[in-house]
Amino acid sequence: MAMSQTDTFDAAEFRRALGSFATGVTIITTRDASGNNIGLTANSFNSVSLNPPLVLWSLAESSSSLPAFRSAQHWAVHVLASDQEPLSTRFAKRGVDKFAGLDCEQGIDSIPLLRGCTARFECRTAFQYEGGDHVIFVGEVLNFVRAESAPLVFHSGRYADATRRDASLKPRNAYLAGSFNEDFLGYLLGRSHHQFFSKIRSYLDHEGLSDEEFYLLSTLTLKHDLTATEIDVGMAGVLDDHSAPALQSLLQRGLAQALPGSGGTAYELTLDGRACALRIISAAKAVESQLLERLGPGEGEVLKSLLNRLLSVTDAGASAIWQQP
Ligand SMILES: Cc1cc2nc3c(=O)[nH]c(=O)nc-3n(C[C@H](O)[C@H](O)[C@H](O)COP(=O)(O)O)c2cc1C
Repeated sequence: MAMSQTDTFDAAEFRRALGSFATGVTIITTRDASGNNIGLTANSFNSVSLNPPLVLWSLAESSSSLPAFRSAQHWAVHVLASDQEPLSTRFAKRGVDKFAGLDCEQGIDSIPLLRGCTARFECRTAFQYEGGDHVIFVGEVLNFVRAESAPLVFHSGRYADATRRDASLKPRNAYLAGSFNEDFLGYLLGRSHHQFFSKIRSYLDHEGLSDEEFYLLSTLTLKHDLTATEIDVGMAGVLDDHSAPALQSLLQRGLAQALPGSGGTAYELTLDGRACALRIISAAKAVESQLLERLGPGEGEVLKSLLNRLLSVTDAGASAIWQQP
């Protein structure tokens, strides 16, 4: 085509520049003339008009789905939720049965509708335009549904999560912003831990457990048969001191017991210890969900994933310590 300028562009750099535009991720589905389900992952989706309600997306000329969409009268756009990355990967593959094992609903013209998305739009093909090596489809929205879930994001060729910004949380005082205070990661981590734990401590007090005894008790629920050395190594990132006093106290109170073995003495929870751990863990989980409910959809996952990354950059083995072999 005469208008092509790509000869003067570095194609890879052009793709990277386009990829700097962060988008959501959708799956567009339809049915072909023989009644086969058709679908693909697309991030070219966009809104066009509110009244009339129009949306658009573009499909590569090279796509094997092109003939089906060219002749389809209807199609459906599924805006994916943050936990639907596997679905996105599946629908971005060629030559596989993308719908195998999926429990779909049926929409207009028996178009397959996927479940669990943040939004879904059923559309009638309004226009088709040639767009270089893509075809642009404009659809009139006939039906839509929406859910309050976090969206899947695509940016610079990778999946990402979105968190909303909250202007009221910017450091209030310009002087403090540069100080060793509100903006300092150590302060934020320490203060968050303190405030989070203060809500759990009343349950620990009720059971007569110190923080250290609680860490050890909950650790023994994850992995039993730990030797004193394994406990020491594993707890070193959480307990400053040797974990022996906490272990002794659990043993004395009949919450843990020693298991003599050939590889040295191992320790496990007694039935009482297990029951006590379950009571506290369920209370602690309730505290956690109450707090996470006050964040936006998906933000708890983002927070946990960032904290996990922080753990792994400060100590590569930290997250692997308690994993079962
Ligand atoms: C995040 C993401 C976004 C995509 N967006 C589009 C798009 O907007 N249009 C398109 O034609 N292909 C897009 N693709 C590529 C198609 O999903 C992929 O080529 C798929 O294999 C096409 O399937 P088909 O050949 O069976 O139609 C995207 C892929 C990914 C992973």
